[in-house]
Amino acid sequence: MMEAAANIRLPGSAPYEYPIFIQESYAGLAQILRERPGKLFVISQKGLESVLDLFFRESGVPRDRLYLIEQGEENKHLNQLGEVYNWLIQSGIDRSSSIIAPGGGVVGDFAGFVASTILRGVPFIQIPTTLLASVDSSVGGKVAVNADFGKNMVGSFYHPAFVYCNVSVFSTLPEDEWSCGFAEIVKHSFLEETSRDLNYLEQNVQNIRKPEILSLVIRDNVRFKASIVSQDEKEAGLRSILNLGHTTAHALESITHYKKFSHGQAVSRGLVTALLLSEKTGLSATDRERMLSLMQKLALPLDTAGFGAAELLEHMKFDKKNTGGQIRFVLLEKPGKPVFGIPITAEEFENAWSAQKRLFG
Ligand SMILES: NC(=O)c1ccc[n+]([C@@H]2O[C@H](COP(=O)([O-])OP(=O)(O)OC[C@H]3O[C@@H](n4cnc5c(N)ncnc54)[C@H](O)[C@@H]3O)[C@@H](O)[C@H]2O)c1
Repeated sequence: MMEAAANIRLPGSAPYEYPIFIQESYAGLAQILRERPGKLFVISQKGLESVLDLFFRESGVPRDRLYLIEQGEENKHLNQLGEVYNWLIQSGIDRSSSIIAPGGGVVGDFAGFVASTILRGVPFIQIPTTLLASVDSSVGGKVAVNADFGKNMVGSFYHPAFVYCNVSVFSTLPEDEWSCGFAEIVKHSFLEETSRDLNYLEQNVQNIRKPEILSLVIRDNVRFKASIVSQDEKEAGLRSILNLGHTTAHALESITHYKKFSHGQAVSRGLVTALLLSEKTGLSATDRERMLSLMQKLALPLDTAGFGAAELLEHMKFDKKNTGGQIRFVLLEKPGKPVFGIPITAEEFENAWSAQKRLFG
């Protein structure tokens, strides 16, 4: 019995409302795809052969309509677009066709951007195969490619026709990819108003990878993110709470040219800094300890990785979320009560970073 785990409703109407299926196989996908008009095209990435074998076998999509970009984030790039557009046009794409994107966030962002622009937009189907993509990048409608001078510099807001997540494919994810997903999952749980998700994670942390537990965790994460996006699709205000932990994370990523840390490893460390800085907005030491303890149980990296506060501050100056020349953070007043746009002085950051170093190295 297939159940739509969540139904996203964004302001407006039909194009912004779509189902998200969270299942333990691709079995139900074949039926949904058979009902779609037009040709189906698949855009994915090299290195995902075993997941793609399963996808094609169970979904019934013809394998000859597959285009693979090379492995790695660097191929989610502007300079890869021309070839894909030409392939789609030569293969007879028309406005009744759909583009399906089985893969992680790289594939979803890239294929979604292609779908949003080819023929001024054709329907697009997200098939997230990483934990991060299932709880984060496949929800919210941001699609983009990188340019030479920055990540996600060319993009649009474009929502999929539906999302279909088969949690069984996560069994082949490398450890680091699990951490990336968990970092976003704990972040959502720190932000969620009733702390229901935080309580659930604490109670189930030992069994979190069991498909039946993981499916519920993903469902709740998707619901949470959808509820935020539906109130502020274009990140004019509220959506920026999703950047909890990201001010430090972006500095760590940019200082290392996006080569040393995965995004999740950087976000995890950034969450610790944000929790420590949140003393300023009233987060109690008890609540902070509770949240740090959950992160430790999920084996997330919490240390400062040998970087000094001064070098991070230097990179934070260029954060696109700064205003008035001031570094700004998302902080917490308590679990589930985020506040955004909080100015932080260099001294406050240095103190928090030193505390993080004393606690976790
Ligand atoms: N659009 C958004 O709102 C949004 C949000 C967060 C992140 N992103 C983007 O998402 C990307 C990161 O996504 P990601 O973490 O999924 O990375 P990714 O797509 O690079 O996947 C990570 C690695 O896992 C491999 N992989 C994927 N599925 C697998 C599976 N089932 N088994 C084994 N290996 C598998 C991939 O080949 C890759 O090597 C970044 O480009 C980031 O900018 C977008």
